[in-house]
Amino acid sequence: MTAVRTETKAEPAAATSFPPGFVWGAATAAYQVEGAAAEDGRTPSIWDTFSHTPGKVRNGDTGDIAADHYHRYRDDVALMKDLGLGAYRFSISWSRVQPTGRGPAVERGLDFYRRLTDELLEAGITPVATLYHWDLPQELEDAGGWPQRDTAHRFADYAEIMGRALGDRVGLWTTLNEPWCSAFLGYGSGVHAPGRTDPAATLRAAHHLNLGHGLAVGALRANLPASAQTSITLNLHQVRPLTDSPEDAEAARRIDAVGNRVFTGPVLDGVYPDDLMADTAHLVDWAELVHDGDLAEISRPIDVLGVNYYAPTVVSAGDGTGTKNDGHGASDHSPWTGSDHVDFHLANDQLTAMNWAIDPDGLYTLLTDLAASHPQLPLMVTENGAAFDDYVSPEGLVNDPQRIAYLHAHLEAVRRAVADGADVRGYFLWSLLDNFEWSYGYSKRFGAVYVDYSTQRRIPKESAHWYAGVIRRNALPAAGQE
Ligand code: FCB
Repeated sequence: MTAVRTETKAEPAAATSFPPGFVWGAATAAYQVEGAAAEDGRTPSIWDTFSHTPGKVRNGDTGDIAADHYHRYRDDVALMKDLGLGAYRFSISWSRVQPTGRGPAVERGLDFYRRLTDELLEAGITPVATLYHWDLPQELEDAGGWPQRDTAHRFADYAEIMGRALGDRVGLWTTLNEPWCSAFLGYGSGVHAPGRTDPAATLRAAHHLNLGHGLAVGALRANLPASAQTSITLNLHQVRPLTDSPEDAEAARRIDAVGNRVFTGPVLDGVYPDDLMADTAHLVDWAELVHDGDLAEISRPIDVLGVNYYAPTVVSAGDGTGTKNDGHGASDHSPWTGSDHVDFHLANDQLTAMNWAIDPDGLYTLLTDLAASHPQLPLMVTENGAAFDDYVSPEGLVNDPQRIAYLHAHLEAVRRAVADGADVRGYFLWSLLDNFEWSYGYSKRFGAVYVDYSTQRRIPKESAHWYAGVIRRNALPAAGQE
């Protein structure tokens, strides 16, 4: 496949360099870092309810305090500045801004994001805001949640509020983070909030997330300066058949449909794929679900596509007993709605602490495939990183060579994709800080910066210093210069 170059893409200078102006960032999400769960008018989101439900999150951990970013954001921005970050991708807690998910905004909630973005701008760091990183206001879930069409309209109202409040200082907006997880893990396998296990509700949620995205792009556009950019972040599965048998190819087709094209189809191309609708026709009446005009709304142009990548997805025809290796947590209910007979496999035995296979080629393939299928669409790696069992040495250091190797290999994959024509504009490491890793609680550490949760002390890991060097040079270290 030959990827097509876009006019704006610059030529990389040397074998280890990134294009001039390449955006170097780190990412977090509101519920995972903020804490202050009941302060300044914030009400519970579905993740507050879920994490407070016994048995849902490892060790009974909750995001009540998390990394206390709500109170420590100034120090955290100073840390970002020390590392030389060019951009910070954070998310906004909807129920901090609109406690019931509807109606007027709470100024105290908005003020936090005004203070945070001001602090970033003063430090010379570009704020990148995500409107929704999985934390639906509980009141909206009580009214039916994402399976309910009205939620998409509530989301558009919230987008309008945020566009008005921060449009003068935030230039890049992401509507949804990984709607696949919201729909398929939240309403399908139930390993994420709100913990429902209903295949029809899952597909309805997916469509209303798509609709919410489109409506939100419209609401943002109407309230943002023309220079502002809009995007959505998808966790596209880099799907590979286990063997070249026709049965495994069919399994790969099905998982690509229900894992990827359920979003890329309507958002990028304005259609739901026929094969997806056929695979799931026994679960949902698509003609009833998708109203006239929805697809035009959903496919409003975006400026950038955010791509999150951690590991590839290897599949074979099976009976669904091999679902545990899909990387999305254990459940008796498959998240692969309509294709729950497919089995999943690890791509290799080089695993992170999440038991995800380390496979940088998957990122290269994802980016170059997107460049080939959508050559005019700029891309941004909005999350990539790894959890390992980090600890503080007696000298007070956190030495994490495995994370450095992971980042190096994946950044090399990004650089190669750029060299081969993919228009990748930036890279955000997941995560700036160790944080609340959803159903794994605090047991998994993804941060470039270690957080001692008993004191909230921050200790930049060796990988943070390594990443700072990459940013400074806009290049990877050459061999022998690590
Ligand atoms: C992604 C999520 C992010 C984090 C990483 C490890 O799916 O967007 O919040 O949990 O995985």
